Amino acid sequence: MVIETNITEMLGIKHPILSAPMGPFYTTKLTVAVSEAGGLGVLSHINLTGKISVEELKKNMEYVVENTDKNFGFNIRTARLQPDAIKLCRQIPRFILDNSKIREQCRYLITSAGSPRMIFNKHFQKLKESGSEIKHFHVTPNLKFAEKCVNMGVDGLVVTGSEGGGHQSYENISTLVLLQQVRKKLPDVPIIACGGFATGEGLASALSMGAGAIAMGSRFISSIECEFHDKVKNIVVSSKASDTELVTGVFGPIRVLKNKFSATHNLVSDKEAKLSEEKFVSDVVKEVNRLEMSYEGNVEEGAVLLGQSIGIIDNIESVSDIINSIINDAEKCLTNAYNTIKKIPIEQLV
Ligand SMILES: Cc1cc2nc3c(=O)[nH]c(=O)nc-3n(C[C@H](O)[C@H](O)[C@H](O)COP(=O)(O)O)c2cc1C
Repeated sequence: MVIETNITEMLGIKHPILSAPMGPFYTTKLTVAVSEAGGLGVLSHINLTGKISVEELKKNMEYVVENTDKNFGFNIRTARLQPDAIKLCRQIPRFILDNSKIREQCRYLITSAGSPRMIFNKHFQKLKESGSEIKHFHVTPNLKFAEKCVNMGVDGLVVTGSEGGGHQSYENISTLVLLQQVRKKLPDVPIIACGGFATGEGLASALSMGAGAIAMGSRFISSIECEFHDKVKNIVVSSKASDTELVTGVFGPIRVLKNKFSATHNLVSDKEAKLSEEKFVSDVVKEVNRLEMSYEGNVEEGAVLLGQSIGIIDNIESVSDIINSIINDAEKCLTNAYNTIKKIPIEQLV
């Protein structure tokens, strides 16, 4: 079964499924596996302590093109407090431009956590004019920001609701509602739906609502190829949807596993309240340490970023099995829905 959409066409992929970026951790092997399986693998913005993100991203891109001929993408978090974002926005487009294989295969940049504007520089412009088919999407958690991003000139939106794992917004709007809002107001904008997806039912519903693809984080954590710790993978498959909560991290709200870390963090109500208690560099380091603890398997005390979708994931499988079963199930769902509608006598529909 092949489901072709505006997004599969734009990104040059077989299936409308992307891996979501999951920095500050490595998703390099995951990227290769997802791309090889016909989806689009996405490299994360690495900034684990002691790693220089520009060099790490370059190395990761080289690794990807050495291990697959399929297309892939990458993430830059453009948050105000993200110290390396400007460097990445300037140096990575130049690097891609100078490497023909990477230029050919790198078809997707997802910016997030800040403004998409940071990437609109002469280096990215030059890359786009070089014949590269790279598309720039930005993550949006609300309709107003979606409109702003489109006015700034992004190629598409990653519409991410509050059930998703990791960084979140203060608005707390579910993917279901947000997708409908964005779709109604911006009907022509390419959309990747994100947050809460893990099944064929989820893909079918996203496509029905006008998205051209889904992106998944938590579902791919529990894949054989993902480089995350086995203890995190086991948490994913054994937890309930209610086992995560929103707390405020240094960069804003984050959805994490309920544990000792979440118990010591509140959720501030809005951005103003957050700015009034602006954290300092030492707090950033502390949070990165807590993230690293989870990456090393300390699921009791670490900051374990996960989405509510863990409540619908119950096995660790290979990436290709995950993608194939989601595609097959989505096809069944769409066919069943169509048949159900057809069975309703026409007079009852009007
Ligand atoms: C461990 C983890 C790390 C994440 N790091 C990032 C990140 O660096 N940049 C980003 O844009 N989103 C990040 N996210 C959010 C994901 O890209 C995506 O929005 C989320 O996983 C979707 O929800 P799901 O987990 O239900 O699929 C992260 C999510 C997780 C689970």
